[in-house]
Amino acid sequence: MASVNEPTTKVWIQSLLEPGQLLLWAMSYYVRVNLEAVFKRGQILAPLLQSARLRDEAFGRFWVAVTTTNDENTAQSQSPVAIQAGLQNSSDLIPPVLAHASGLVLDVGPGTGTQMPLLRSPAIKTIYGAEPCHGLHEELRSRADAEGLGEKYHILPCSVVASELVPMLQEQGLLPAGTTALDQTTGVFDTILCVRVLCSVPDLDQTARELYSLLRPGGKILVTEHVVNPWRTAKGSVVARAMQTFYELLGWSWYLGDCRLNRNTERALRRAADVDGGWESVELERWFGRTCLPYIAGVFVKKA
Ligand SMILES: C[S@@+](CC[C@H](N)C(=O)[O-])C[C@H]1O[C@@H](n2cnc3c(N)ncnc32)[C@H](O)[C@@H]1O
Repeated sequence: MASVNEPTTKVWIQSLLEPGQLLLWAMSYYVRVNLEAVFKRGQILAPLLQSARLRDEAFGRFWVAVTTTNDENTAQSQSPVAIQAGLQNSSDLIPPVLAHASGLVLDVGPGTGTQMPLLRSPAIKTIYGAEPCHGLHEELRSRADAEGLGEKYHILPCSVVASELVPMLQEQGLLPAGTTALDQTTGVFDTILCVRVLCSVPDLDQTARELYSLLRPGGKILVTEHVVNPWRTAKGSVVARAMQTFYELLGWSWYLGDCRLNRNTERALRRAADVDGGWESVELERWFGRTCLPYIAGVFVKKA
């Protein structure tokens, strides 16, 4: 387990305000996209009648901007609380986790493909990226090509919700025709990547169970996810938990692509393996426990 340095009070307060900055940034894209629809494209009723489409477009443009800033490793992309823990930002948790990827891989919600440079291992045969936000596909494809993964990386334009994923996997020849539910499979993938995405799926417990079913025996789920603040434990913070609720009330989920700050992702993933009497092994680290964006990072291995 990592030893996490306690943040100073100043850094801790900064960390509590960090999601607020992200939220304002996301809101500005939402406002801009709505104004453009009305005044540039003349779609006067679009904010009322096509709010889902505009929200999707705004989140896509926002996420491209966030990932570009992170790529440039500017001061804006660095997190003081991460720096005190010996990292630049939470993205530094991802490489050691993704180093475990191999075989046939499902990349859940790859966004713009910022993880692409970490997926060049020859141990990885083929990758399917299930990304429902169409505004991110162009960037995702160009990153795959730029990293030499053009042939290996296949974009599935869908959510991991079974009603969308099952037909896509059937189209790719990965699930037999006639399959209607993901828990009817005996396993498809060797590795499933979940990086900052389980916060956004509609039903966490169900998705966790379905992803578990999609794993072959001995397969791995690799996670780097922000989670609910563990405020009931000594490592958590009541104030940070209250701030999470505050940001949710301000519309965090609406402006940030259905992201939720209150997910107990570790519990959902652990329970997903109950049908088989648990996982073969779980290696998980917990980070930034006193902040509004605490993380879990690690590897869940299915029994062989
Ligand atoms: C916060 S972004 C993270 C992107 C990428 N994994 C990363 O870490 O840079 C969340 C991503 O999950 C995608 N997403 C949201 N709901 C999803 C779902 N139900 N199934 C698959 N992806 C989803 C979003 O479109 C978005 O690209």
